[in-house]
Amino acid sequence: MRLKAISDLHLANEANREALLELPAFKDDWLIVAGDVAEKLEHIRFGFDELSRRFAKVFWVPGNHDLWAGPEAPGGRVLVGEERYRRMVEYAREFGIVTPEDPYETWQGPDGPRSIVPLFLLYDYSFRPDEVSREDVVAWAREGRAVCADELFLDPSPWDSRDAWCISRCDEAERRLSQLPAGQPTILVNHFPLRRDLARLPRAPRFVPWCGTRRTEDWHLRFNAEVVISGHLHIRKTDWRDGTRFEEVSLGYPYQWDRSLGMAAYLRDILPGASSSEAANSAARLSR
Ligand SMILES: [Fe+2]
Ligand SMILES: [Fe+2]
Repeated sequence: MRLKAISDLHLANEANREALLELPAFKDDWLIVAGDVAEKLEHIRFGFDELSRRFAKVFWVPGNHDLWAGPEAPGGRVLVGEERYRRMVEYAREFGIVTPEDPYETWQGPDGPRSIVPLFLLYDYSFRPDEVSREDVVAWAREGRAVCADELFLDPSPWDSRDAWCISRCDEAERRLSQLPAGQPTILVNHFPLRRDLARLPRAPRFVPWCGTRRTEDWHLRFNAEVVISGHLHIRKTDWRDGTRFEEVSLGYPYQWDRSLGMAAYLRDILPGASSSEAANSAARLSR
């Protein structure tokens, strides 16, 4: 029994949907899906259905693309913001998928129990440089041709802003995490990286304000994380900070992965743990 992870399935792309249909079953394993399944609810449901058939248990956290205001919804109404998120949580539960709204599941491994913690924290633009104000951050990004489409499509209703939604989500996650038994090791899962120094985007450095919040910089230490799993960057990587393993596990758009390898090659092994050199070698192999 293994715990595996992937993110950024982007199932609006036919090639990604076909690869999911070709994915073999891993009936004894658990899978973490760290966001950006698709923009359309119909594709999200397709993803939940296919994944839940193949794994003993599936975990899901939303990505920014999952939250985009879609053109379709049951009854013809466009669902946005919190309401859209709650609808996706309902869908996930229909397929038995664990969401950030559910009790933490426990992984029973030879090294003791680990709490698997799905998080939905969003971003608050605080990954911007110190000298750029919140008011100026979108203009600053635009100068570098890096404005995120969330500015158009990620409606935070009923929150006034994505920043405010992020603050509320972080407050709630901190409250729940603080209730874990002292010293309980965790596996933290969030679409966005928890640390600014891991949000490195060589091709679009000014995209960084849409990548997380500085508030979670030390959560791997505060909440005793053995592994932190994220996606969003579409840059597969394994990093280490303070003895914690950070895994960016994205698949990405069709041009960002090798179809001949199949989707299974992009399932990252999370537990049982790989050594730092094994993990780095495997991430390097797939990023070529
Ligand atoms: Fe993505
Ligand atoms: Fe994303």
